[in-house]
Amino acid sequence: MAPTAKLLLADLASSGVKQIPSNYIRPISDRPNLSDDHFSDGSIPMIDLNGLNGPNHSTVIGQIGQACQRDGFFQVKNHGIPEEMISNVLDIARQFFKLPESERLKNYSDDPSKTTRLSTSFNIKTEQVSSWRDFLRFHCHPLEDYVHEWPSNPPSFRKDVAEYCRSVRGLVLRLLEAISESLGLERDFIDKKLGRHGQHMAMNYYPPCPQPELTYGLPGHTDPNLITILLQDDVPGLQVLRNGKWIAVNPVPNTFIVNIGDQIQVLSNDRYKSVLHRAVVNSERDRISIPTFYCPSPDAVIGPPKELIDDENPAVYRDFTYGEYYEKFWNKGLVRECCLDLFKPSHNTT
Ligand code: OGA
Ligand code: NI
Repeated sequence: MAPTAKLLLADLASSGVKQIPSNYIRPISDRPNLSDDHFSDGSIPMIDLNGLNGPNHSTVIGQIGQACQRDGFFQVKNHGIPEEMISNVLDIARQFFKLPESERLKNYSDDPSKTTRLSTSFNIKTEQVSSWRDFLRFHCHPLEDYVHEWPSNPPSFRKDVAEYCRSVRGLVLRLLEAISESLGLERDFIDKKLGRHGQHMAMNYYPPCPQPELTYGLPGHTDPNLITILLQDDVPGLQVLRNGKWIAVNPVPNTFIVNIGDQIQVLSNDRYKSVLHRAVVNSERDRISIPTFYCPSPDAVIGPPKELIDDENPAVYRDFTYGEYYEKFWNKGLVRECCLDLFKPSHNTT
């Protein structure tokens, strides 16, 4: 009997396939070189946020500015989010992806405009090659607009994830102030640019993969939003491009990984970098990561601020709305690694 088609990767992966289906296989020129990837802990700066509210304030602002400029990525410790809350949200994600297929499928949709949905790969409607990932993605600010759409299983999902979202939002707001300050702007500069702030969250589930050298959990991309706060479990998989080489960012318990998204690159007029990163998979263990994507409102106008433009530093981008940017991002199916070039004044739209 022919196997029944599976909507979700987890259910295909757990059926004991020895070879990945052909739609997951990347062309030879675009495969992870797992033996060559450089695994080094602490490869991106670790910033201790304890100092942000004391006499070391300006040192920490300097560290954040330097990390945004050189790495586009940093890790944070002493961020104020309790350990129990972190382990709990990872547990809830793990439990969610272990629910029976029929229970998970209640949340399934392949329409990227839905504000709560479970899906697979990246955008199965537009992409050429699939990615070895399932994901639950949902909006979470303002909470009261969205919580009722979220999964109600595991039973504590809504209450506990809402609490986590609130805490991460507090962390983001502190970081946005610090980043504004590090650019020499008013502390509330970025906050004010965002219109009605948006906060989305994903729970990424990467099942074990029988041929991890042929595919990606997520291929190289930059994040289209403002800033991302990533929580990962204890299984390595995240890689960041630095000086033309992919380096692994191995898990450090109770820390978050912060990365600059495309919108901060624009708001800093290219001083801060939205850096390519990707997720590789492995044949042994499944992996969970939980990114929070902080976003401008779709109608917010984003462009280089006049404070950062002069004769030597002309505006690198035209003004655009975040809605316009975001639509381009989802429609390209992660074929184009980054959309920023489309918004340079020199880009010919015809
Ligand atoms: C993302 C992402 C990395 C990871 O979801 O945008 O880059 O390690 N995730 O899951
Ligand atoms: Ni990303």
